[in-house]
Amino acid sequence: MEKIDPSAYRNIVFFTGAGMSAECGVPTYRGKGGIWNQYDYGEYACQKAFERDPEKVLRFHELRRRAVLDCQPHAGHRVVAGMPRSILVTQNIDGMHQRAGSMNVIELHGSLWRLRCDPCGSMREDPGDDYETLRCDCGNWLRPDITWFGDMLDESVMRMATEAIASCDLFISIGTSGSVWPAAGFPSLARDAGAFCIEINPEPSGAICYDLVIRGSASEALPSLFVS
Ligand code: APR
Repeated sequence: MEKIDPSAYRNIVFFTGAGMSAECGVPTYRGKGGIWNQYDYGEYACQKAFERDPEKVLRFHELRRRAVLDCQPHAGHRVVAGMPRSILVTQNIDGMHQRAGSMNVIELHGSLWRLRCDPCGSMREDPGDDYETLRCDCGNWLRPDITWFGDMLDESVMRMATEAIASCDLFISIGTSGSVWPAAGFPSLARDAGAFCIEINPEPSGAICYDLVIRGSASEALPSLFVS
């Protein structure tokens, strides 16, 4: 396999999706065993569902939190966390990168470990398996601070991500099907910026702009990708 010398690049961006966490035991969204094959997102992952039955939606996310806490980051997460001059943009809400030591993670779709109250605008960290409370101090239901179907992405987070990608010279996409926009446009943004673009995914993702495609798993491909 072609080895990459990270010292030859000034700005490295890792861009990860659910496949990054798959080998930890966290299910992906699509494909075999995918969450959206099992659960109807219209019942669990959109604002309408939350308004209809907030407790049902919150309990679903609580189950996901418990499942994630049973899993551990793998060697690939540690490679990403240890890479100098790199920025990490993730679609994952599971916090696995942070548990492996990544700092300053750009979480495009929010975090399972944060709740917010839209009516009063407050936000709270809640890192346990069970939610500390389902209600804000103001009395309204709290909602997970994550991007559901139909939600807009946080503008400032999106700006940080696009700025990082538009100025990178090495772009490494790992474990994303590339089916959810605007993140699906990031590989071509990196290519247009002139970056060397790598994809790690055991399955074809549909994006065709990569200079190097590694049909392998994140936990195996990442530790052997770079010259030491
Ligand atoms: N290593 C690398 N990639 C893998 C692995 C692995 N071990 N296992 C699976 N994959 C790949 C699959 O081939 C697939 O292309 O990971 C990808 C997972 O795709 P999705 O489940 O669609 O996940 P993602 O692209 O992150 O989804 C984007 O969709 O529902 C939303 O908000 C949710 O952030 C999520 C967004």
